[in-house]
Amino acid sequence: MECVRGFVCLVLLTVTSSLTVVESWQSEWSPSSTVRLDVNTHSVQRFPGKETERDDFRLLLTEDDSMLVAGRNTIYNISMVTLEENAKIEWAPEQSHIDVCQMRQKTPDECQNYIRVLAKKSRDTLFVCGTNAFKPTCRTYNQGEDGSYQKTHHKDKSGTALCPFDPSHNTTAVYADGKLYSATVADFNSRDPLILESTQMVRTEQFDSKWLNEPNFVSSFEKDDKVYFFFRETAVENINCGKAVFSRVGRVCKQDQGGNILLYNIFTSFFKARLNCSIPGDFPFYFDEIQSTSEVGKGNYRPTYDSGDRSDMVYGVFNTPQNSIHGSAICAFRYSDIIRTFEGRFKGQKSFWHNWLTVPWDDTPQPHPQECSNSSRKLPDNTLNFIKNHPLMNSAVPASGGAPLLVHTSFNAQFTKIAVDWMVHAADEKYYDVMFVGTDDGRVIKAVNKGGSAKIETVVIEDIRVFSPHDPVTDVKVFRDKAKNIEKLIVVSKDNVVSIPLHRCHEKKTCRSCVELRDPYCAWQGSSCGNAERGVQDVDNGWSMTLDPSCQDVTIYDDNKKEQEVTTPAPTPAKCACPTVKGTVGSPSIVEEDIDALLVMERENSVHKKNGGSLSGGPRAGQSSEETQDATTAASASVETLAIAIVVSIVLSMLIGFFIGYKVAGCRGNRDSDASYLERTCSLQRSRNRLSSGEHPYYNPDHTIMPKQMNYVVNVKGKLNTASVETKPVTKSNKVYL
Ligand SMILES: *[C@@H]1O[C@H](CO)[C@@H](O)[C@H](O)[C@H]1NC(C)=O
Ligand SMILES: *[C@@H]1O[C@H](CO)[C@@H](O)[C@H](O)[C@H]1NC(C)=O
Ligand SMILES: *[C@@H]1O[C@H](CO)[C@@H](O)[C@H](O)[C@H]1NC(C)=O
Ligand SMILES: *[C@@H]1O[C@H](CO)[C@@H](O)[C@H](O)[C@H]1NC(C)=O
Repeated sequence: MECVRGFVCLVLLTVTSSLTVVESWQSEWSPSSTVRLDVNTHSVQRFPGKETERDDFRLLLTEDDSMLVAGRNTIYNISMVTLEENAKIEWAPEQSHIDVCQMRQKTPDECQNYIRVLAKKSRDTLFVCGTNAFKPTCRTYNQGEDGSYQKTHHKDKSGTALCPFDPSHNTTAVYADGKLYSATVADFNSRDPLILESTQMVRTEQFDSKWLNEPNFVSSFEKDDKVYFFFRETAVENINCGKAVFSRVGRVCKQDQGGNILLYNIFTSFFKARLNCSIPGDFPFYFDEIQSTSEVGKGNYRPTYDSGDRSDMVYGVFNTPQNSIHGSAICAFRYSDIIRTFEGRFKGQKSFWHNWLTVPWDDTPQPHPQECSNSSRKLPDNTLNFIKNHPLMNSAVPASGGAPLLVHTSFNAQFTKIAVDWMVHAADEKYYDVMFVGTDDGRVIKAVNKGGSAKIETVVIEDIRVFSPHDPVTDVKVFRDKAKNIEKLIVVSKDNVVSIPLHRCHEKKTCRSCVELRDPYCAWQGSSCGNAERGVQDVDNGWSMTLDPSCQDVTIYDDNKKEQEVTTPAPTPAKCACPTVKGTVGSPSIVEEDIDALLVMERENSVHKKNGGSLSGGPRAGQSSEETQDATTAASASVETLAIAIVVSIVLSMLIGFFIGYKVAGCRGNRDSDASYLERTCSLQRSRNRLSSGEHPYYNPDHTIMPKQMNYVVNVKGKLNTASVETKPVTKSNKVYL
């Protein structure tokens, strides 16, 4: 096992070291401040929910100063100001449905009602769909004058194709212009993914892997005449190079009614494009699996002096595949870039046997099929045919700034969700998009990109532990009520709904520590650090001697000490410490120490052997040339001594042989028993020692991680083989993955 790990590590390194870009995302980020929230001092508010059973909270909607949060068999209307319950809806499945559900081998936990779709149809009308013990159902509720919800007398409606059967399926829905668009699965076994407009029952083509291929939908929004969906799916255009998941943005036109005969009741405006969240370089490193997005807002991925210098953007969380090195990245996408990508050329495959290539303009129908038509039923057949076979755009949507804004690699944590506080005006006169990023180990990371013009230089301001490490953050939301002067961050996990302040400026007691925080919310105002748009602050440079003379206070040193005690060191960012081909990556001190230790042991060993030799009073086999010379000069050695020498050498070689066998078999021998052997041959063993030194951030004593690393190597191999495999025809059977 250890050998395998060492080997995998070596292979990994050989692979990654060929990517020059790797270094840039291994660069350390250490937050200006690490915060452990204290309920008493940090004005944390918490929504209790049901104290007696699991809640399975999920944030569904925020509006003005309240939010609707789904719980198991419940929908809560919660005030974002106080985090108290305004009202709630209780909707548990009927016992008969639960019985049927359990008969179909589902667990009691699954056989509950989980609300996955919610549309606020008017000020007081809610349309909700829940999994309802694997029998998706929708109903409408009215909110009365007193705030309480009443089920309308309409009969419950089937929620099939609007809401998944399985609560773990990733579904999204958006209500736009009086129509509900849902992106989910339409069957019990989650085999029939679709995007559906439920008023006219127009959907995506069924069972066509070109359209949707094992998608996980993450979010959706409406804008202008279209509805957009973010999802990840198995990339059909990449199938020749092995199974890979890509992130996508897909869209449909709001007026789409489907075709007339061809594409009858099927969208004639469904197109999708890849989202490119990658570290640029000769071999870009892709973060291919979108997890979530922020809402669409007006912002700018870089600081700006002009509050008007902003555009419609969306920020997304992207991860590497689960079976590789855990990496997460934040990328921002401009709405205008998304539109431009859809106005470009298409990707197509002449037939099943051909590769995916760019479709030339000459073969693209005019007008451009992406344009929304008021009468989709009248579209000519050749256009419809083209649309049916070309849902994929040729180009990927580029990330704003050309690179991720924030990258994190770690075995322990990945990003889950992002909220953006758009264009926060800092005291240094600049506007910043402040990112709040939730992690799957219960933290929220606050960061801004301070890099001007071309560079992206994100500073992590705070690393806030909100929940326990086993409680992933599932949602974050910035809440601001200008009238009441309230601003805070709502943080949601399956078990908790809390609100925390957006900043902790007042905890910094000196000008220097206030400025060192680089928090756009904070500024030093003569005697205190506060949330202000005026005062001393320099997000770009942090504190320096050249700063405002009023910021050069003498007391800083004492205060700093105090703060250092409070702040715990940041989690060390991942840095692979396996030996490279050159053998000098990571913390070289460990390698040297190990080698030193081995050398010392070897010396001791040979001293010991020498003593042994002199005791027996004769020469031994396997000695240095000098000693063999000694042996030859001792020509008078008796037959007896010779016999002893032979026996000793046989025993020695048996021992060594045994050891080699033992090491190779188990490779878990204890390294001080035969150091010279180790020194010579078991470089694998050394890498184990390096790994198990415990300082390696990639090292995880949890052995279950191993098979996953193996997969990574296999995947990479698949990718590297691209060239040789590319020309191979794709057969229908290739569609059945594994
Ligand atoms: C929550 O309830 C209040 C009345 O108590 C209502 O004004 C508000 O609109 C509701 N929130 C949502 C998001 O529907
Ligand atoms: C839904 O998404 C989450 C987070 O990305 C993932 O862990 C989970 O496996 C997905 N669910 C399904 C059914 O694929
Ligand atoms: C993604 O973006 C990077 C950097 O901007 C670029 O090098 C790469 O070619 C792009 N990949 C795709 C598939 O467009
Ligand atoms: C399509 O219909 C919308 C309203 O339904 C109208 O505003 C728009 O001008 C029409 N576009 C065309 C090209 O006819």
